[in-house]
Amino acid sequence: MTSTQAEIDVSYSVSNEFFKLWLDENMHYTCAVYQSADQSLEAAQENKAQVLYDFAELGPDKSVLDIGCGWGSMLEFCVRHGIKRAEGVTLSTAQAEWCYARKLDKSSIHICDYRDWKPAEPYDGLVSIEMIDHLCSPAQAREGRAIEIYREYFSKLAEWVRPGAHFGFQAILTNKIPRTRKDLQDLQFTADVIFPGGRNPRLEELVTAVNPHWEIRELHTRREDYGRTTGEWLRRMRLHEGYIRETWGNALFDDYERYLDTCVRGFANHWTSDVQMKLRRI
Ligand SMILES: C[S@@+](CC[C@H](N)C(=O)[O-])C[C@H]1O[C@@H](n2cnc3c(N)ncnc32)[C@H](O)[C@@H]1O
Repeated sequence: MTSTQAEIDVSYSVSNEFFKLWLDENMHYTCAVYQSADQSLEAAQENKAQVLYDFAELGPDKSVLDIGCGWGSMLEFCVRHGIKRAEGVTLSTAQAEWCYARKLDKSSIHICDYRDWKPAEPYDGLVSIEMIDHLCSPAQAREGRAIEIYREYFSKLAEWVRPGAHFGFQAILTNKIPRTRKDLQDLQFTADVIFPGGRNPRLEELVTAVNPHWEIRELHTRREDYGRTTGEWLRRMRLHEGYIRETWGNALFDDYERYLDTCVRGFANHWTSDVQMKLRRI
């Protein structure tokens, strides 16, 4: 089971205006890739999109599906780079509405569970950025079902491309368990209140689950980049504290401050990390 539509709405349908206050202008809600100490979030998000575009070996004569396309940031990048056809699926209605309003050329967005998606024809490449974190619930992981659920995703996606096609994949990871009660409570709060139904995989689970359909050709971890990304989101959100409290209430500001602050500490202390993989369909 994936996060339900209602759980996804808790995570992504607070208000598009709210997220617009602290994400970059293209609304990437995932780890950016910084190339220098003074680089802006905007530039780092472009770098991230370029890494995945290159991993998927996309280009003007190619078609792509973005699985878990959020507010359409990666689709926009692909269209701007002249892709032949870009499609996206998301479970969030608010995100899809934002995507429709972007009126992206040569693209279409669908509100659909990825498991129900039926492509009209095979894609030349795939991207999926921090969507897998919604597929296995903490309860299912405790039952030992994580690898089976992640393998179902990789196997399904393999049906949508021809052998030899590439997939730019990114996921948040679980690394170490924190030691203090407060840290554990903060992580639990983030899982229960901000991302209900979700659970970050372990790297070794993903490496196992890509088999038998995908070969890992490159792999980068991005723990420090994500610490910096979430730190920048927190800094930007705090600049709008008064407006957020007035418009959406104190609880929303307090919850998001606690969640983003937990992320910053999580990446600094190795509780969490992030991975990008270049995969090739066997
Ligand atoms: C953290 S957001 C990432 C969005 C986007 N990839 C980005 O980089 O900003 C996760 C996305 O996965 C989508 N998602 C989660 N479970 C899904 C499912 N079962 N089928 C389709 N999309 C799903 C959510 O709706 C959301 O758009």
